[in-house]
Amino acid sequence: MKIIAVINHKGGTGKTTSTLNIGAGLARLKKKTLLIDIDPQSNLTEGLGLRDVKVSIYDSIKDDIALPVETISEYLDIVPSSLDLLGAEIELVSRLGRETILKRLLKAVAGKYDYVLIDCAPALGMLTVNALVAADTVMIPLEAEYFAYRGIDRLVSIISDVRTHYNENLTIGGVFITKINPRRVITEQITSSIKKYFNDKLFDTSVRINVALVEAQLKGVDVFEYAPESNGAVDYSNLVDEILVKI
Ligand SMILES: Nc1ncnc2c1ncn2[C@@H]1O[C@H](COP(=O)(O)OP(=O)(O)OP(=O)(O)O)[C@@H](O)[C@H]1O
Ligand SMILES: [Mg+2]
Repeated sequence: MKIIAVINHKGGTGKTTSTLNIGAGLARLKKKTLLIDIDPQSNLTEGLGLRDVKVSIYDSIKDDIALPVETISEYLDIVPSSLDLLGAEIELVSRLGRETILKRLLKAVAGKYDYVLIDCAPALGMLTVNALVAADTVMIPLEAEYFAYRGIDRLVSIISDVRTHYNENLTIGGVFITKINPRRVITEQITSSIKKYFNDKLFDTSVRINVALVEAQLKGVDVFEYAPESNGAVDYSNLVDEILVKI
C-alpha cells in the first residue's frame, strides 16, 4: 500500500482535481484505491457526488473511531470530509499524539488498498502535518505560472521537519504542472524554469486547461466517465502511467 499526500499550500493549484482523477485512473487499471478528503472545503467529497455526509473524517479524528469509508466503484473508495473539520485544527491543539492520528487510523485499512491518496487543504496546519506523517510520499501540483514554486520552500522545510521527528522515509515523489495553456507563448519558458528548480522531480506529463475537468466535478463524476476523449482524460491517464512507474 502506497500512501500519497497531494499537497500545495497555495490555493487552487489542482490538488483536488488531481486527487480525484488520478484516483479514478488508478481504479480503472484495477488498482484498489482509497481517496481521503482532509480539507474542510470538502471539494473532493462533493466532486464525487457525495452530499449530506453523516459521518466524516472529522468524526474519526475527534472520537478516534474507524475511518468512514464510502464506496464509489469496485476499485475506488473515499473517506469524506465535512465543514466540521474546520474546528479540528483548534481542537487538536491540546491533544496528545495529535500529529499521528491519521497514521493510526490508516493502520486499520493497511493491506486493503494498492494506493491511498490524501487531498490536503491549502494550509500547512495540523491536518496537513497529519497527512505528511501518514504518507510514504508527496506529490505537488503546481499551476503553470511564473514563480509557481515561490513559497514551496516552506513546504519543503515542513516535510523535512516531519522526516526528522515522525516519518524518516517520507519522500517528495514528484511535482507536476497543471492548468497549462499550450497555446500561450510563455508556457514553454514557465515549464523550463520549473524544470530548472525541481530537476528530475518534475513529471513529464503536464495537465492542460480543460473545461471537461470542471464540468465533470460539477456533475460529481470523474473525467474518464464524463468525457473519456477529452484532453483532461488523456493527461490524467498519462500522469497515472507515470505514477505507476515512478512512485
Ligand atoms: N486542468 C484544469 N483545467 C481547467 N480547470 C481546472 C483544471 N484543474 C483544476 N481546474 C479548476 O480550477 C479550480 C481549482 O482546482 P482544484 O480545486 O483542483 O484546486 P485545489 O488545489 O484543490 O484548490 P484548493 O487549494 O482550494 O483546495 C477548480 O475550479 C477546478 O475545477
Ligand atoms: Mg482542493
